[in-house]
Amino acid sequence: MTLWANLVYATHTPPGINLLHLRLAPWRSYAMAVTLTDGQYPEGLCYDMYDPYHYYRTQVVDGKSYLIAGGEDHKTGHEENTEKCFRTLEAHVRKYFAVESIAYQWSSQYFEPVDGLPYIGNLPMHGNNIYVATGYGGNGMTYSTVAAGILRDLITKQENVYQELFSPSRIKPVAGFTSFMQNNLDVAKNLIGGWFATEALQDLANLAPGEGQVVEYEGKSIALSRDSEGALHAVSPTCTHMGCHVAWNLAEQSWDCPCHGARYSPDGKVLTGPASADLEVVSLRSAVESKS
Ligand code: FES
Repeated sequence: MTLWANLVYATHTPPGINLLHLRLAPWRSYAMAVTLTDGQYPEGLCYDMYDPYHYYRTQVVDGKSYLIAGGEDHKTGHEENTEKCFRTLEAHVRKYFAVESIAYQWSSQYFEPVDGLPYIGNLPMHGNNIYVATGYGGNGMTYSTVAAGILRDLITKQENVYQELFSPSRIKPVAGFTSFMQNNLDVAKNLIGGWFATEALQDLANLAPGEGQVVEYEGKSIALSRDSEGALHAVSPTCTHMGCHVAWNLAEQSWDCPCHGARYSPDGKVLTGPASADLEVVSLRSAVESKS
């Protein structure tokens, strides 16, 4: 008996190192669910034309309405004070809606394809029965439906009119070339580690609880953060996926990789792929002792 197995990576980006990692850029978005004093909850899903843009819709939970508003998106690792994104979003929402209370707030990560269309189909260079659906660019409700149809037809050997258009192996359209180059310049910049501001180790006393920073000490880069109890955590800033430098995410208390979106806890544990290995833990004590 022949056993056929098909594997679909519906995991934002596929794990490991793959061609698609050069064609996707990780972005973060911020959202909050608020109640309104005047009951003027929007009936549709709305976007505005600001840059970065905002979006609004209504969600009813157990008979109670919430306005869900989001936006203030930025490339992962490109905003030093991510908490500020929440405050900017809140100020924007309060300007246009009669906010009663902010019930919930959260941030999320999504992936932008370099030429504007998701990659749905066979994972390049992985045979015929491994599939991927990624790069929805924040439009997952639409593109996941498209992906379901394409992947169903590929697996059942049916023709699908969209399979060429969304193929992960497609020849890159010229229109996507600029953002392809920009994204990979970003990757290259972080691979050589010259992008993050540095400061002397003695300035660590200024690291407030909840803050994190990549610092230089004795020619070595260290990703330092201080938890809410005041304890310092030190890890290598070198992402274990392909070697870019991570950046501190203040709002989520995590180390985020700007290249392909891997995320780590303050003590270096993998939270989100494509990385599968933890950040190397740095012994702060030995660093200080070797200095004395
Ligand atoms: Fe790829 Fe960090 S280098 S996720």
